Amino acid sequence: MTQAVTSQVVILDYGSQYTQLITRRVREVEVYSILLPGDATFKRVFEENNPTAIILSGGPNSVHVKGAPSVPDGFWEECEKRQIPVLGICYGMQLIVHCLRGKVEGLGKGEFGRMPVVDIPTHTKLFGEDIEPQNVWMSHGDEATVLPDGFKCIGKSEQGCVVAIEHETKNLFGLQYHPEVTHSEKGMRTLKHFLFNIAKCERSWSMANVLEEQIQIVKEKVGETNHVICALSGGVDSCVAATLVHRAIGDRLHCCFVDNGLLRYKEAERVMEMFKNELHLPVDCVDITEKMLSELKGVSDPEKKRKIIGKEFIECFKEYKKTVEKKTGVVPKFLVQGTLYPDVIESCPPPGSDQKHSHTIKSHHNVGGLPKELGFELIEPLRVLFKDEVRRLGKIMDVPRNFVARHPFPGPGLAVRILGDVTENNALETLRLVDEIYINAIKEFGLYDEIWQAFAVHLPIKSVGVQGDQRSHSHVVGLRAITSNDGMTADWYPFEPKFLQEVSNRITNQVRAVNRVVYDITSKPPSTIEWE
Ligand code: XMP
Repeated sequence: MTQAVTSQVVILDYGSQYTQLITRRVREVEVYSILLPGDATFKRVFEENNPTAIILSGGPNSVHVKGAPSVPDGFWEECEKRQIPVLGICYGMQLIVHCLRGKVEGLGKGEFGRMPVVDIPTHTKLFGEDIEPQNVWMSHGDEATVLPDGFKCIGKSEQGCVVAIEHETKNLFGLQYHPEVTHSEKGMRTLKHFLFNIAKCERSWSMANVLEEQIQIVKEKVGETNHVICALSGGVDSCVAATLVHRAIGDRLHCCFVDNGLLRYKEAERVMEMFKNELHLPVDCVDITEKMLSELKGVSDPEKKRKIIGKEFIECFKEYKKTVEKKTGVVPKFLVQGTLYPDVIESCPPPGSDQKHSHTIKSHHNVGGLPKELGFELIEPLRVLFKDEVRRLGKIMDVPRNFVARHPFPGPGLAVRILGDVTENNALETLRLVDEIYINAIKEFGLYDEIWQAFAVHLPIKSVGVQGDQRSHSHVVGLRAITSNDGMTADWYPFEPKFLQEVSNRITNQVRAVNRVVYDITSKPPSTIEWE
């Protein structure tokens, strides 16, 4: 994909929940890897992506199911011709066996979870020196019962299933287990052995290279005279994207931070200060609080709130475009967006869905996603990166650590955390104070980095309490903290009772308007992360 990358691993995605993890594991050892859908064409796999090695992922299907995903015609011949090593993992291994005329059968027992691999011969290409039994993470129903010509078994499960195979002469390998998960104790060693000793991959994927290269790409795309606009949200993605583009084209980048009146405690001040003092990035703060709150007055329906906020944001951005034009005499032609790799991956759809491909769709959440009619060309310098890579990139550009590690914050801000009319009962003020106390306590207890997202919610109900020997009738606030990988599914975070007790005390003592605190113990699904 890029000039700096000299080795590229193509991972064909057959729908396993671990496929993205394989991609990241390969990148972690500084080899660039991309995910292509399992039904990618021959041209896409070989001509457009010129792989150094190919990994066939796991997946929920059985090779015998009608329409089960496979490799494109001519795949095996081309791998042999170009000497591209292939590693099949789980479904990927069964695909190798099935396609090359061995036998895969569903024997009805299956193997799931942690178990040892035994009977590893002394001389194998794939395991190298790792011949001792090793615990691995297994998850399969079908198994290979007859191996294709030229293959041998190089590892069995305790139950006697074939769980590792290799070809005697060609570089074709299969693992029935998942080497990419940490429960497979030597999985990473095996993967590295495959990448470096068998496929001879070079370590050419580093954030320093990415930075240099993306800067070059932005320079070329924008040219010598064009101007570029970026809407900063205060989140890590737009911040890292803007910092990178600023390095490429300097002050022809115009950043705008919109204070929509729905931000957290002192958020606008803090973000503006960081941009100015630490990143030396010129940012205009546009304050639309008054207009926004007057538009939101009396509105309780969550979707209506979102629509109003989105509309106001676009209006504000149109104005900003004009401001830049007035200031520079040039109509800005480009827009920076912090789109990430998981947002653009096409993967196999979940089994049973009617889709051919599933895109990971989060665009409705992306307030930076401005409508086409604004007439910008997009610059998306983070499009090839995972979130943790964006954080590393931010780090090498000296974006402060406490900023790079921030929890996500929704575009419509506190409006989706105040149930009902946001302008009533001083709700914004109350929620800001509660949220600040809560997040500070999480940081103080050293839990911030363990939690994916945490926030408080203002409920539209009052309850009876006793405060200072007097009966009170005040608001209830909800606290939420979740762990997640990508926000698509989530678990609630199991705080120690001591922490919850401390936070509840602080909130009810410091915020007059609140006399009751509840903790949300629902996962997603069935709930969503936000309350609205
Ligand atoms: P949900 O509530 O859908 O949240 O489970 C998943 C993630 O998305 C964020 N979120 C939003 N972000 N605009 C945004 O920019 C929105 O309207 C929006 N709604 C939810 C949420 O904070 C979580 O990280």
